[in-house]
Amino acid sequence: MTVVGLLTLLAACSAVLGSPVPSEGFDNGTIAKVQANLATIATHSWEIGTELETLTELEWPQLSVFHGTVPPPAQLPTPDTAADVISKATASSIVHNITNFAGPAPLIDGDGAVGDPASLGVAVLLANWTRTDLNDTRLANAAEDQLAYLLNVAPRTPDGAISHRISEVQLWADFVYMAPPFIAYYGAIAGGEYGASLFAAAYEQCKLYRQYLSDGSGLWRHIVLGSWQDNNHWGTGNGWAAAGMLRVFETIARSGHAWKFAAELANLAIWIDEILTHSWAFQHENGTLYNWIDQDAPATFTDSSSTALLGAVSFRLATITANSVHVPSANRALEVIKQSVDEDGWLLNTVDPETFNTTSLPGQYSPEGQAFVLLLHSAWRDFEASRKI
Ligand SMILES: *[C@@H]1O[C@H](CO)[C@@H](O)[C@H](O)[C@H]1NC(C)=O
Ligand SMILES: *[C@@H]1O[C@H](CO)[C@@H](O)[C@H](O)[C@H]1NC(C)=O
Ligand SMILES: *[C@@H]1O[C@H](CO)[C@@H](O)[C@H](O)[C@H]1NC(C)=O
Ligand SMILES: *[C@@H]1O[C@H](CO)[C@@H](O)[C@H](O)[C@H]1NC(C)=O
Ligand SMILES: *[C@@H]1O[C@H](CO)[C@@H](O)[C@H](O)[C@H]1NC(C)=O
Ligand SMILES: *[C@@H]1O[C@H](CO)[C@@H](O)[C@H](O)[C@H]1NC(C)=O
Repeated sequence: MTVVGLLTLLAACSAVLGSPVPSEGFDNGTIAKVQANLATIATHSWEIGTELETLTELEWPQLSVFHGTVPPPAQLPTPDTAADVISKATASSIVHNITNFAGPAPLIDGDGAVGDPASLGVAVLLANWTRTDLNDTRLANAAEDQLAYLLNVAPRTPDGAISHRISEVQLWADFVYMAPPFIAYYGAIAGGEYGASLFAAAYEQCKLYRQYLSDGSGLWRHIVLGSWQDNNHWGTGNGWAAAGMLRVFETIARSGHAWKFAAELANLAIWIDEILTHSWAFQHENGTLYNWIDQDAPATFTDSSSTALLGAVSFRLATITANSVHVPSANRALEVIKQSVDEDGWLLNTVDPETFNTTSLPGQYSPEGQAFVLLLHSAWRDFEASRKI
C-alpha cells in the first residue's frame, strides 16, 4: 500500500471512529429562515459584528479565516461577492464615524463596551482590502482609529489586559471574540514586522484573559475585576472565548508568519481544547449544555446558544487538527440544536443574552443564538467536506 493510500485509510478509520452517529446537517430552508431572522434582530454592535462573521463563514467561506490564505486575494472573483457583508459593514448607519473620523475612536457606539464595536472590524478591513476605489481611504481610517482606540486609549489592567468596559477596568470572556480576532486580522493585512507585532498583541490578550478568567476548573468565569463580578462558568462566555481564540489561531496560521508563532499557536490550540473538554464533560443526555455549564437545575437551565457555539468550535478544531475527540459531542450538540429550531427558523431554549442568567422570554429570541446556529452549520459543513478529501 502506498503512503497516500495508508493515510487515506487511517483518515477514513479515524473519521468513522470519531463520529459513531453519522449526522445530517440542517436543510437549506431552515438555514435561510434562521439567517433572515438574525438580520431582523441583530442591533447591538456585537450582534452585528457576529452576524457579519457568520455571513462570511456561511456564504463566503473562501473569504473567512478558515480557508486559503489570510488575507484572501484583494480582488473579489465577482462584483457581487460578499456584497451583503460589505454593504452592512460600510453602511453609514453602522459605521457612524466613517466619514468624520477624529482620532482614536470605536467604529460604532458600543453601549459602554470597549471590545464590542471592534467585532465589526474584520468585516470593515475586508471591505477596505477588497474595495475597487483605491483612493477611498475612509474604511482604512475607520479601522485604524478603532485599532488605536483599543491599543492606546482603552483602560487596561497593570499587566496589560484591555478592559472590556470603558468606565472601569473589567474583563469579560466575551471580549475574546470581539477584539483579538480584529487585532490579528489587522496584522495579517499589514504584514511585515508591524503585522507580526499585532499577532503578538492579539495572542497576549487571549493569554491574559485566560490568566484572569480561567480558575483552575478548566472553564472560564464570565466577568472579573471592576465593581461587580460574574464568577459563574457561563456557557456563552466559554463559547466566546474558545471561538475567539480559534479565529486568532486561524488568522495567524494562514498568514505568512505562522512559523514565527509555533509556540503561540500550540498554546491557543491547548486553551481551546481545554474549554471544550471541560464543557462537554457536562453535556446532558440529549446533547444540551446548561447555561452555567457545571451547575444543575433548578439553579440553572438548558441553553441552546452555548451548545451551538461550542459545537461549532468543536467541528472547526477537528478540521484543523484532524483530531476528532470532540466530534461525538459536537454531533450530539448538532442533533439537539436541530430539534431546538422551530418551523419559523427561531432558536428556542436560549439564555437571554443581556441578563446572562434568565431564559429568553416567550416570543423573544437571541440574536447571537441565531448566529451560533449558522456558525454550527458552517463548521459542520466544512468538517464534513474535509473528511471527503
Ligand atoms: C444547499 O445549499 C448548498 C449551498 O448553497 C448547495 O450546495 C446544496 O446543493 C443545497 N442543498 C440542497 C438539498 O438544495
Ligand atoms: C463618533 O466618535 C466620537 C468620538 O470621536 C464619539 O463621541 C461618538 O459617540 C461616535 N458616534 C457614534 C455614533 O458612534
Ligand atoms: C486597506 O487596503 C489597502 C489595499 O487596498 C491596504 O494596503 C491597506 O493596508 C488597508 N488598510 C488597513 C487598515 O488594513
Ligand atoms: C485617485 O487619485 C489620483 C491622484 O489624486 C487621481 O489622479 C485619480 O484620478 C484618482 N482615481 C480615482 C478613481 O478617483
Ligand atoms: C434536552 O434536555 C434538557 C434536560 O437536560 C431539557 O431541558 C431540554 O428541553 C431538552 N431539549 C430538547 C430539545 O428536547
Ligand atoms: C441575575 O443576575 C442579576 C445581576 O447579578 C441578579 O440581580 C439577579 O438576581 C440574577 N437573577 C437570577 C434569576 O439569578
